[in-house]
Amino acid sequence: MRIVLYTGKGGVGKTTTAAATAVTAARRGARALVASADAAHSLGDVLGLRLGPDPRGVALSGGGSGPDGTGRLDALEVDVRAETDHHWGAIRDWLVSLFRHQGIEEVVAEELALLPGAEELTTLLAVERHAREGGYDLVVVDCAPTDAALRLLTLPEVARGAFRVLLRVQQALAGVVTPMARSVLSVPLPESRVFRDAERLLYEKLRTLRGLVTGDDASVRLVVTPERMVIDEALRAHTDLALFELPCDAVVMNRLLPEAATREDFFQDWGRLQAERCAEVEAAFAPLPVLRAPLQEDEVTGVAALAAHGEALFGGHAPGAVLARAPRVRFRKEGDGYRAEVPLPHAERESLDVAKLADELLITTGARRRALALPRRIAALDLAGARLEPEGLVVRFERAGGAA
Ligand SMILES: Nc1ncnc2c1ncn2[C@@H]1O[C@H](COP(=O)(O)OP(=O)(O)OP(=O)(O)O)[C@@H](O)[C@H]1O
Ligand SMILES: [Mg+2]
Repeated sequence: MRIVLYTGKGGVGKTTTAAATAVTAARRGARALVASADAAHSLGDVLGLRLGPDPRGVALSGGGSGPDGTGRLDALEVDVRAETDHHWGAIRDWLVSLFRHQGIEEVVAEELALLPGAEELTTLLAVERHAREGGYDLVVVDCAPTDAALRLLTLPEVARGAFRVLLRVQQALAGVVTPMARSVLSVPLPESRVFRDAERLLYEKLRTLRGLVTGDDASVRLVVTPERMVIDEALRAHTDLALFELPCDAVVMNRLLPEAATREDFFQDWGRLQAERCAEVEAAFAPLPVLRAPLQEDEVTGVAALAAHGEALFGGHAPGAVLARAPRVRFRKEGDGYRAEVPLPHAERESLDVAKLADELLITTGARRRALALPRRIAALDLAGARLEPEGLVVRFERAGGAA
């Protein structure tokens, strides 16, 4: 099963592009699901249907269902609140009782117990469950704007680190200790059920989710318009995606003035500027393909308009194909030591920070940090230097006291 996730700056056309991708794939014969993971749902508006948390069939009017009749389209909007209650209910109830025990008012306790990241994780869990159960060839995810989408996609890895700490607490409290501690301590201790939930999340779900978003079948596509701020945000997102090895396979250039319009006097300057921005995007994101979509005369809503939009966007490309392979982190032997190569397109030295802490390499790019687990052989070595090269960040490791 292939999964394609769309993100980009607010309002650039993510939902439209996600829906057009799924409609086009289904009309060409795929079993496709389009899911909205943006809490501010607008997928239903774009499809002209009322959507809920379970997949609902979308009629592929006109185009039929592919040459062999296999194509079909389902759509859904994740109900973040219901999913969060389901997955985190037990942990949250315990936190609320803990805070209340300390004299904190119920309303405030409930606010405090909102676990950071819980909504992002449960959104991904819901998408994963439907994707797995529905037997789809292609799952298209309409994500929130860039920052929230990156939080969503990096959480399976970031949360794993946090849960490791939680797990140690559980081990400390487990078994005999708990009943005894219960009578001595004046705070409520978590039921073991609470931690069993967390453990299950840790070992099964987080690994599954990380596999889902970083696997060879997953791709993120960045939607842009020919505007400076939009492109800059996409460039930063591309760096952050690479840092977490979230593979990006294409850029979608949306709302391009049609060629004919740019020949009109009034639009000539816009046309020139647009051509410059397109060239810039092609160069900056190379070797990623840049798919182009025209500015339509009217809003793109309903299956027929989405199908036309998708055909213009994809042309000869298959909407669900892997359009480019993203490089991954590599470790290689170098002299007496090792080197790590971390692909970081568009990274700037000033906003980059590298440190080694025990068996992890901490890499910070502007607002985001990844704790990259080091193979045991390399974890035993010292960080000997880091530099930005065309292929990315190169970090050298040598034996303590320098190369022997
Ligand atoms: N190529 C296009 N031509 C004309 N209208 C477009 C095009 N792409 C998107 N639109 C319109 O622009 C508006 C915003 O598009 P859309 O909702 O897809 O953006 P979004 O990136 O998902 O926004 P948000 O960040 O709010 O989720 C919609 O009214 C949509 O119909
Ligand atoms: Mg949207």
